[in-house]
Amino acid sequence: MPVLTSSSSSFTSISLSILLLLILNNTTVICSATTRTNMTRPNRQLSVNYYAKSCPQVDQLIGSITSQQFKESPVSGPATIRLFFHDCFVEGCDASIIISSKQQGNKMLAEKDAPDNKDLREEGFESVRKAKAVVESKCPGVVSCADILAISARDYVHLAGGPYYQVKKGRWDGKISMASKVASNIPQANFTVDQLLILFSSKGLTLEDLVVLSGAHTFGFAHCQNFVSRLYDYRGSKNPDPIIDPRLLRALRMSCPHYGGNADIVAPFDVTTPFVFDHAYYGNLEAKLGLLASDQALSLDPRTKPIVQALAKDKQKFFQAFGAAMEKMGSIGVKRGRKHGEKRKDCSMHML
Ligand code: HEM
Repeated sequence: MPVLTSSSSSFTSISLSILLLLILNNTTVICSATTRTNMTRPNRQLSVNYYAKSCPQVDQLIGSITSQQFKESPVSGPATIRLFFHDCFVEGCDASIIISSKQQGNKMLAEKDAPDNKDLREEGFESVRKAKAVVESKCPGVVSCADILAISARDYVHLAGGPYYQVKKGRWDGKISMASKVASNIPQANFTVDQLLILFSSKGLTLEDLVVLSGAHTFGFAHCQNFVSRLYDYRGSKNPDPIIDPRLLRALRMSCPHYGGNADIVAPFDVTTPFVFDHAYYGNLEAKLGLLASDQALSLDPRTKPIVQALAKDKQKFFQAFGAAMEKMGSIGVKRGRKHGEKRKDCSMHML
């Protein structure tokens, strides 16, 4: 029985959580760098009050959309935060992820259409599109799509129960969006801690930032293809990943067969509270309930394990660190001014 498809409602996803919980049978789970081109810059470029004169109500305008979207479709939360992450890691936080390939012609596909981005949920794009429409109606031509994405991501973290942090603004939208730039900048679900560290440090992010930002996997969902090899043939061993909790293994195997399963089925990152932004992710890792190999690895590697333990114990510490790490991630490769950037009217199309 397919448990949850990416287009299905929160009702079915909750069914999956319940299913996993039942199967977990009352477990105690709260259920060096390479290139340095994309580094974070000092935040003197960005400021919380950037639109104080030109669009003082920008946060409220965006908030009216995000709160409505969150009510209608809670998956908009994880969808938008992941969208922001994929935007920032490729060409910097410049809304290059939102560009549609159509305008660029067939010759050059945009980032959005790269294989690593094909699972980004439409709800994230939709949320930015709606927020942009309401912002344009009050402050035409002023607020960048990149800032709208950064503010929306913050709103959803908070709406889902996570911390509220100030978002610094002043990003311009990027003039380049190329699918070919994506693969080398987005981490894979089977990355080792070494591989994760190389990628994150190439963006100016630290070991701690890696562990803290991965905490975004405290909500949202992943398709079977991203963890199915752990269930049947872990790193070519013809056996499941020995670390995975046997009850979680059984539950996931029911939803994700080795071959020929429904490609739309997803499982929650956090089996108990898949829509809540809390610190359960870290407790789950300690209980061997990580969904992706890259998540579980963080609680096994001696460099990252102590950070996982500290965050599992202390929700406030996680919340404080998450806001700070999102500010750092939100500063990657920021563009300013007409030479390098644009202010799009329609976030999916470059200005001509
Ligand atoms: C550390 C390396 C990371 C890896 C390997 C990774 C990988 C993945 C994968 C494979 C998925 C599932 C996609 C799908 O099947 O649809 C996913 C989902 C997600 N990721 Fe990550 N990710 C990483 C870091 C991050 C960061 C830094 C953030 C944000 C700060 C983030 C936020 C999310 C969210 C919220 C989802 C759920 C999306 C949804 O339900 O629509 N991830 N990630």
